[in-house]
Amino acid sequence: MEIPHYTLNDGHELPAIGFGTAGLRGDDAVTAVTSALENGYRLIDTAVNYQNETEVGEAIRRSGVPREEIAVCSKIPGRHHGYDDAIRSTRESLERLGLDHLDLHLIHWPNPGRDRYHEAWRALVDLQKEGLVRSVGVSNFTHDHLRRVIDETGVTPAVNQIELHPYFPQPEMQQVDDDLGVITESWSPLGKRQAPFTEPPVAEAAERHGVTSGQVLLRWHLQQGNLPIPKSATPSRQRENLDVFGFELTDDEVAAISGLARVDGRLFGGDPDTHEEM
Ligand SMILES: NC(=O)c1ccc[n+]([C@@H]2O[C@H](COP(=O)([O-])OP(=O)(O)OC[C@H]3O[C@@H](n4cnc5c(N)ncnc54)[C@H](OP(=O)(O)O)[C@@H]3O)[C@@H](O)[C@H]2O)c1
Repeated sequence: MEIPHYTLNDGHELPAIGFGTAGLRGDDAVTAVTSALENGYRLIDTAVNYQNETEVGEAIRRSGVPREEIAVCSKIPGRHHGYDDAIRSTRESLERLGLDHLDLHLIHWPNPGRDRYHEAWRALVDLQKEGLVRSVGVSNFTHDHLRRVIDETGVTPAVNQIELHPYFPQPEMQQVDDDLGVITESWSPLGKRQAPFTEPPVAEAAERHGVTSGQVLLRWHLQQGNLPIPKSATPSRQRENLDVFGFELTDDEVAAISGLARVDGRLFGGDPDTHEEM
């Protein structure tokens, strides 16, 4: 299956859909990522905090898919934000993955309490110059965070990976990213624990187009120019989630799904420092 690509602001390309790996560990991670690659995914999203970089590397080797066909993305955790820490963190990620470069490397979250994300960004810019990281980006950044790293280095992140699903559609942040030329990657694109599969605008569109609710949700991301990274340990769902390029939602359908936004729509809550993503 041919997956369309987005061109990033640094000239490199990424598949329009990727594979999320949060929560996949050990043998389950190797099995799921190997199957995802066999099913056609060519962008794999991991992170130091997912504790599965070793398994992602193993799956890449096991899949037999040529390394140069796969975009591997990892993330620097909030506790590794000094310049030297971020360099060390990246080298350790490469060692665990068994790779000589990352295709995309992100700052996992700005960790504003520590306020050193701009140092991690300088490290990423230098790592890119060195060739250890092909494209550099961020995650969970607001307009202010983006502005600061751009102003300090002159380098604009290629990607901002943010929480995005119909209960939390973040139109303002999408606009900020668009205005700056940053691709918005959608994390928890299916809404995960609160998956809006049975909401009428989603279920009715699925019926009209003869597809599943999951496919409607992923189309909703793609038609806004965003890059969703659904996770599934289930091979049939992995295939289903990639098979989203043969139909198109109408503008009204997209708007009706965006209308599911809720004030309490965020998946995150509580203390970010205790969350595995942070
Ligand atoms: N940057 C950040 O701070 C951040 C935060 C959260 C997530 N992420 C990234 O985003 C990725 C995706 O987010 P996520 O894992 O939270 O949630 P998600 O991809 O929105 O949802 C995953 C859940 O949906 C189920 N699922 C997948 N496809 C389905 C389908 N077609 N129909 C029904 N159920 C389906 C999966 O079940 P099965 O596995 O059982 O099939 C799993 O329980 C993560 O894996 C991670 O890579 C990043």
